[in-house]
Amino acid sequence: METTIAEILQKGNLGRDDIITLLGADESADIELIRSTAEKLLLDKCGPAVFYRGLIEFSNLCIRDCLYCGIRKSNAGINRYTLSKEEIVASAKWCADKGYGSVVLQSGERQDDAFIDFLVDVISEIKSSTASEKMPGGAGVTLSVGEQSPAAYKRLYEAGAHRYLLRIESSNPILFASIHPPEQELQRRIDCLKTLRETGFQVGTGVMIGIPGQTVEVLADDILFFKEMDIDMIGMGPYIVHSATPMSIYADYHKFTRNEIFQTALLMISVCRIVLGDVNIASTTALQAMRDDGREEGLRYGANVIMPLTTPLNVRQDYLLYDGKPCLDEDVQQCSACLEKRIRSIGREIAVDVWGDSKKALRRQN
Ligand code: 5AD
Repeated sequence: METTIAEILQKGNLGRDDIITLLGADESADIELIRSTAEKLLLDKCGPAVFYRGLIEFSNLCIRDCLYCGIRKSNAGINRYTLSKEEIVASAKWCADKGYGSVVLQSGERQDDAFIDFLVDVISEIKSSTASEKMPGGAGVTLSVGEQSPAAYKRLYEAGAHRYLLRIESSNPILFASIHPPEQELQRRIDCLKTLRETGFQVGTGVMIGIPGQTVEVLADDILFFKEMDIDMIGMGPYIVHSATPMSIYADYHKFTRNEIFQTALLMISVCRIVLGDVNIASTTALQAMRDDGREEGLRYGANVIMPLTTPLNVRQDYLLYDGKPCLDEDVQQCSACLEKRIRSIGREIAVDVWGDSKKALRRQN
């Protein structure tokens, strides 16, 4: 007899087949059971707090040509920018003043020395200028600047960044190869994730959900990959077409509807929570791009991190990874007021003046 969803959720240690069954749930009662199990687990293990990270998209220059991404180097149709150190630091200070305990510095990928020198300088300045009585160590700094050499990772860590996000995009070699140019290798990303951990960073990764050709089996393997890599933080979201990318031609051939992708993305959050326990899981902007209440839904399905957009308004429209990105014309003040209301509406709290490391990372480090 087939195992039911309820029976699987009673088990302690889920295997691949269990994970596949959960991700494939399509009856609303089953989905609700998975969601409520994940939410309860989160509340029991981590509490109701939602951690904020102000997201500063400080540059859209990129040496990579990912087939899905709107800021890929071959997209000549966009204005390339890099914020000045002063602009980045001002954004970070705004976040710290508002009680956001952490910022995420994200950009396209660059590997030249000048880029790393610039970042080291920016990180040091953020750390010193956001230090206060409430946060003596300054704001937490998370980086999301792609594949770098071990020496570069070390310099960035020593400058004061302590968390790093590097999505694997897909842990399946065939799928990874189908969305990247040949010079980008899955194995190098895996090596980077290992180096980041050895360097001392708390490490985050994740995948896009709804990549053409992806199946629930592939997504189950992604979750097992996160587990095997002992990942501290997860950031995942739906794949959304950008019209000026090579992958836009697949759009009409897509097997899944938008709703199915949205629902699977939410289920991925729940199943990650159930399998990985007290990691941090972000409810990402791409969820909100699909549905107005997408980020609250992510929290209800077991996420505990939100990354409010704090990129200055004048460059936001130049950092479009996909079509239909939300919050492009709202200033940071508006964004934060609107988010706060949304989070309270689902009975959760916003943690202020803390870095908000995952329990898992803290346990490992102690
Ligand atoms: N749809 C959804 N997510 C995307 N990203 C890049 N392009 C897209 C897209 N078209 C995600 C990638 C990357 C992160 C910064 O943004 O997963 O790691």
